[in-house]
Order: sequence, then C-alpha cells, then structure tokens
Amino acid sequence: MPRISYVNGAYVPHQRACVHIEDRGFVFADGVYEVIGLINGKYADECGHLDRLERSMRELQINPPKTRDAIRFIMRELVRRNRLQNAAIYLQVTRGTAKRDFKFPTADTPSTLVMMCWPFNYDANPNVQNGVKVCSVPDQRWARRDIKTVALLPQVLAKQKAAEQGCYEALMLDGDGMINEGGASNFWIYKDGVLKTHQADQSILKGVTRTAVCDIAAKHNIKIVEGPFGLDEAINADEAFCTSATALIVPVVQIDDHVLGDGKPGPLARKIYHYYRDYADHEKQQLYWVY
Ligand code: PDD
Repeated sequence: MPRISYVNGAYVPHQRACVHIEDRGFVFADGVYEVIGLINGKYADECGHLDRLERSMRELQINPPKTRDAIRFIMRELVRRNRLQNAAIYLQVTRGTAKRDFKFPTADTPSTLVMMCWPFNYDANPNVQNGVKVCSVPDQRWARRDIKTVALLPQVLAKQKAAEQGCYEALMLDGDGMINEGGASNFWIYKDGVLKTHQADQSILKGVTRTAVCDIAAKHNIKIVEGPFGLDEAINADEAFCTSATALIVPVVQIDDHVLGDGKPGPLARKIYHYYRDYADHEKQQLYWVY
C-alpha cells in the first residue's frame, strides 16, 4: 500500500509530497512542528500537542493554516489512508511561500501545512527494554527553546555526535555544565526517592510527555522537583530517563563513560513507563466534527 502524506489541502503519494523552493520553512527554517503518537489507535495527548502547536505559531506570529478541528480531521484522514494503528504523526506549519525576503511576507500569504506519518511499534522498542547510552554536548541552540521550531541544526549536529559514539541521545549542557534536556527529549534523574527534571522555562521545550509524567508522579505520590541539575548530579543518580512523544519513557543506563547503577533500566523508569502506557490506553479521546 503506498504511503500517503498531506500537503496544503491534498493527500498525495509520499514520494510526490513537496513544498515550493521558496517555502519559508525550506529557506529560513521559519516554521514550527509537532510529533504526536498514535498508540493502539489512540492519539496520545493530542490536546497538549495541538495546544503547543498553537502556542508556537502565536509566539512566532504565524497564521494558523486551519482550525484545530480541521487539523484533527486531516490527521485522522491521513491515518485512515495509511491504515495505521500505531504510528508517529508529524505536523509542520511554515509561514508559507513568498519571494525570499527576511521580513514577514504580507498577511494574506497562506501558511503551509504538511503532515506525514509512519508506523511505530510502541510495544517492542529495544531502547525501552534495554535502556540507552547518552553523551553530553554543549547546547548551541537559540534562546527560545520553548518554541518547537523546525530550526533543528544544533540538534542534528548533537544527535549525529551521539550516534557516532553509539549513543541514543545527546544531553544538552548550558555554559555552567547544567543539563537542559536531550536533543529531542526531556531528561530526568531519580535519586533518594526524588524525581528531578529541568524547570519549564525558555531554555527547554516543555514536553507534552513531560507534563503527563509530572501528573503521573503526582498521582502516585512520587516526589518531583523541577529545577536545575548538573552532569555530576546526573552521573550519581540512582536512575535516569528521557521522555518524548515517540520514545515515551526511555531508561538511561550510561552517561558519557559513567554507568548508572547496575547498567540496567531502573525500577522507577519501568514503573513510569507502564503508568504512561496505561494513561495513554485510557485517555479520553476528544470528539471531532466530521465535515
Ligand atoms: N521531540 N525536548 C526537545 C528538544 C524535543 O525535540 C522534544 C520532542 C521533547 C519532548 O517533547 P514531547 O514529550 O512533547 O514529545 C523535548 C520530538 C519527538 C521530535 O522532534 O521528534
């Protein structure tokens, strides 16, 4: 069955899914995106992802290309056409196509909306089962990391460096050696019964999965601190893990040359993974209008 993607109003074979060479996403990385998990036919935290997409557009003054209901409808139609039950769904909005000029184009320039999806096996992710190695790199991103923009070159370089070292993720360190987050995930440590993650400010992306894990921890009386911590603290943690929409909760078993604990996924990471899966399985799905 051919893979189908969505580009500005049309469902097209994936190989022919293209935007214009003067699309501002292509020329200036002038766009925002979301990645949403479809787990056993359910959209995980759909509302949180669409809230964040709208916030990202607002922060950058990008006109929403469609209403939220229309976006939700397109997403479902795309999933239906690709016959997927377990998938990652990618949405990108850019400021549209206009003659190359740094300042914003005229207000009537339509924003670009593209979507694609690919199968994702949430039940058999070896990273979740075995844990992963991560390495530390300097955080070279801009100052508004709370906006989910497609300007991802620092993450591309960081994750390439990680891959070259056999690592799953790169931990992005600020100038003082404090850990902001992963290249494409939020980072957590657990020590002496306290779970810690970076505070949600402009130096990290406030992950939708991060928010769900905070709620899960509160519900299960797991103490959480949202605040800064450095590489030294992480290396000495009992456990660590990364969270994101596709990877969900991935245990970290090694940071640079330091093996955490016995080098196996820790019990808390496993527990939170199972709590999250249970939460995603039972999450109430929003109704949507059929046009
Ligand atoms: N990345 N931090 C960064 C820098 C990210 O890129 C991501 C997600 C997260 C986790 O956010 P969430 O839980 O909402 O997925 C944190 C996605 C998955 C990506 O770029 O592929």
